[in-house]
Amino acid sequence: MTEVTREFIEGLPKAELHLHIEGTLEPELKLRLAKRNHVDIGQSTIEEVRKSYQYDDLASFLAVYYPAMNVLQHEQDFYDLAFDYLRRAAANNIRHVEIFFDPQAHTSRGIAFDTVIKGLRRAVVDARALDVDAELIMCFLRDFSKESARKTLIEAMPYKDWILGIGLDSDEHNNPPLKFARQYEDAAAAGLHLTAHCDIDQKDSIEHIRQALEIMGVERLDHGTNIVEDPDLVDFVAKNGIGMTCCPLSNSFVSPVMKGDEIVELLGKGVKVCINSDDPAYFGGYVNDNYRALAKEYKLTREQVVQLARNSFEASWISDEKKALYQAQIDAYVAKH
Ligand code: HPA
Ligand code: ZN
Repeated sequence: MTEVTREFIEGLPKAELHLHIEGTLEPELKLRLAKRNHVDIGQSTIEEVRKSYQYDDLASFLAVYYPAMNVLQHEQDFYDLAFDYLRRAAANNIRHVEIFFDPQAHTSRGIAFDTVIKGLRRAVVDARALDVDAELIMCFLRDFSKESARKTLIEAMPYKDWILGIGLDSDEHNNPPLKFARQYEDAAAAGLHLTAHCDIDQKDSIEHIRQALEIMGVERLDHGTNIVEDPDLVDFVAKNGIGMTCCPLSNSFVSPVMKGDEIVELLGKGVKVCINSDDPAYFGGYVNDNYRALAKEYKLTREQVVQLARNSFEASWISDEKKALYQAQIDAYVAKH
């Protein structure tokens, strides 16, 4: 077995498909924006901000995560947030990224949809200069009403060309995917791709995964590793080429483990499972940190690591031509190292 080195992981071309832009708000930028916008976040040093990062499940994480977004007020703030992340993405050798954003987390506190998307879009366009191909996925907050999701989808329609797909995030407890069946149908009819969070170890995890896959027709599952409890569903995702976007470091914050056994099992069964950073400013690292932590803890082979990177492009929503191009880049990288 060839050892998987830090350098090998760092240089490997990758895609990132599970990344919440609001989760890239590093303490430094949070404090800078708080000052710039005169927002009192109750902390004034990096140490104080870091000390406030105490969570051990999804709900306690979200309770820290949403209030911090108050520092995001103007289009330029959203630009700065996204462009800072995209610079890090380039440094992680991420060639393609599909970025989640949560419009309702901002419109619900009086920030216009327009302000959010214009800032993010400008950063996405500027990322071309970094050689990062970036796209946006709009998520509905599942603990908000379906009427709010409906209103958000209507607001998004003038910007449809800037949005690649829709997703579903926030608190899953008693908020099944089916609550948004109608919005998913409308989004699909508008030509948008579909994905949904099925967070780990939730009440009704398997039922939520089943709804997302069999009723709502999602093309990917975000997290979703509880699927291993149901062999028929595993078979379904393997046969239908459904991508699964896993986030090992994030998992280790909201559960005792990274869910590496599940990731390895799915990889072995031919599922398009890939590695992502979720909310890197809150969960201890970016994509390369996630690959490294998983490879070390679960003693991954070089072949497994390469397959995870290949899957990240295969599960993405780029053209077949682009997929072939990125796979060729991986081939060349592997041949050289
Ligand atoms: N799950 C649900 N909601 C979220 C997440 C997540 O992983 N990250 C940011 N919002
Ligand atoms: Zn997530």
